Amino acid sequence: MTRQKRYAAGRARALGLATRGTTAPQRLRRVDRWLVAVHGDVLRRAADPLVVDLGYGATPVTAVELHGRLRALRPDVRVVGLEIDPERVAAAQPAAADGLAFRRGGFELAGLRPVVVRALNVLRQYDEAAAADAWRVLQGGLAPGGLLVEGTCDEVGRRAAWVALDADGPRTLTLAAHLATLERPSSLAERLPKALIHRNVPGAGVHALLQELDAAWDRAAPLAAYGPRQRWVAACAALDRPRDDRRSRLGELTVPWGTVAP
Ligand SMILES: C[S@@+](CC[C@H](N)C(=O)[O-])C[C@H]1O[C@@H](n2cnc3c(N)ncnc32)[C@H](O)[C@@H]1O
Repeated sequence: MTRQKRYAAGRARALGLATRGTTAPQRLRRVDRWLVAVHGDVLRRAADPLVVDLGYGATPVTAVELHGRLRALRPDVRVVGLEIDPERVAAAQPAAADGLAFRRGGFELAGLRPVVVRALNVLRQYDEAAAADAWRVLQGGLAPGGLLVEGTCDEVGRRAAWVALDADGPRTLTLAAHLATLERPSSLAERLPKALIHRNVPGAGVHALLQELDAAWDRAAPLAAYGPRQRWVAACAALDRPRDDRRSRLGELTVPWGTVAP
């Protein structure tokens, strides 16, 4: 199948196919608090503080939460939840509020030009090629200086991984975990975004990252007596690779995309 046909297939699914709308309150809290803390300036400085939550799911609860969190940063923020499923758009209308709206739309972003797009647990439903094309379309739809956050998490948001992209390409991969329930860092593998989930094989950058994290986690075992947070912080600090571990106390680790890119 040509790339064009694959993308057409992806678009057809985006516009027509029923997909699971699984969501839950507070499921996306980790990505939201990272967005506010690490990339808050994107929204603070925006000429037009428009944010899209793409694929908000069966209920608009995480879009409502996103709006609340971003309003604290930028009181005039406008969050638009976009869904391909018209019934979900209709069902979300009672939750609309000042600065929060719900519309039908897909990767074309309904013609909007947001400064931030959050697309969590959406692209995992597509094949790899369609997801890669979706990245490009979404990047092209960003306002100047804009940010796309695309990733995946478990049902209650205790394991998550997301990629931050700007108009030029992917910039970082962030892993995030509820440390009290984390068995091993490599258990985050099952939450990797579509671009990486099939690439977690020996020889690949993301595989090396998870292996190194596991080894550092093992070496830090004595610190488990002080709690899993101390152990994770030590494991991240021991990594001999480029990383941003300033938020490791929160169970996060961010690495440059170039170190894990397939
Ligand atoms: C699993 S739910 C995720 C809901 C929420 N973002 C979360 O993480 O809890 C995925 C949603 O994405 C929607 N979806 C899939 N492809 C889409 C597209 N191209 N544009 C907009 N929504 C899409 C589906 O209809 C579904 O409701």
